[in-house]
Amino acid sequence: MTRIIDGNDVASDVRDGLGDAIATLEDDGVTPTLATVLMSDDPASETYVSMKQEDCEEVGIEALDVELDPDAPAEKLFGTVEDLNADPNVNGILVQMPVPDHVSNRDVIRAIDPAKDVDGFHPENVGRLVAGDPVFKPCTPHGVLKLLEDADVETEGADVAVVGRSNIVGKPLANLLVQKADYGNATVTLCHSRTDDLAEKTRRADVVIAAAGVPELVDGSMLTEGAVVIDVGVNRVDRDGESTLVGDVDFESAKEVAGAITPVPGGVGPMTRAMLLYNTVMATGRQTDVSVDLP
Ligand code: GUN
Repeated sequence: MTRIIDGNDVASDVRDGLGDAIATLEDDGVTPTLATVLMSDDPASETYVSMKQEDCEEVGIEALDVELDPDAPAEKLFGTVEDLNADPNVNGILVQMPVPDHVSNRDVIRAIDPAKDVDGFHPENVGRLVAGDPVFKPCTPHGVLKLLEDADVETEGADVAVVGRSNIVGKPLANLLVQKADYGNATVTLCHSRTDDLAEKTRRADVVIAAAGVPELVDGSMLTEGAVVIDVGVNRVDRDGESTLVGDVDFESAKEVAGAITPVPGGVGPMTRAMLLYNTVMATGRQTDVSVDLP
């Protein structure tokens, strides 16, 4: 029987586990606060940001909602980030990406105080992660590791194929998986759009993590019997005239071969949201010198 890994369940455990840490902070008079900055009128970005704010409010994190006109000059965003960096009541800052074309993504990421960079995208946090001394693990890779932990998947000595080399998922995930640490010690093959014979790489893997942003790229014929399959993809496609969400894995064929698999939706997505809360609580503890136990 193929096990369906339920991301909603694991995310709910993470959120519950954060309750004690948030209560400890409250006892010290500290309310963790996340500032979300949206400089876009893209409906998907607006939805993502409002979901993140709702998640915060549900667990007792204050959400500070900052919205900027997408046509405003870049300086407006940099000034906002500077103010949030300096505000002692703001513990985490998330600038929703993508920002408008006239604003440099790279410069925005660099402008955020690394101590408040709950996305884990700042070069200081990336460098620490690669060096094996991470503070904020990026939310999606961290969520994937939590799913593997919950499903009792042993990564030590395992062959893992990561498909996709983005800065947000593929690269940090590959780095975490090779570290000498819990849920590390794997042998990682990092595959991407120029990889020759992808199926040969995925078929060798005990664990396949699909994060390429290509609908149903990985199917059952590309997996070894019993493989663990983690699908990071969220792709909107048209099926029979209807718009629907599919992952980077062809779920129906993959589940016939896999030992365990995440669905889309309901797999990695809820974990990404939960790990943002985790990083915000962690940031708050570090900034206030309140010792908090994280789940
Ligand atoms: N846009 C899409 N995903 C993300 C994310 O994880 N963080 C931020 N800041 N923007 C995003």
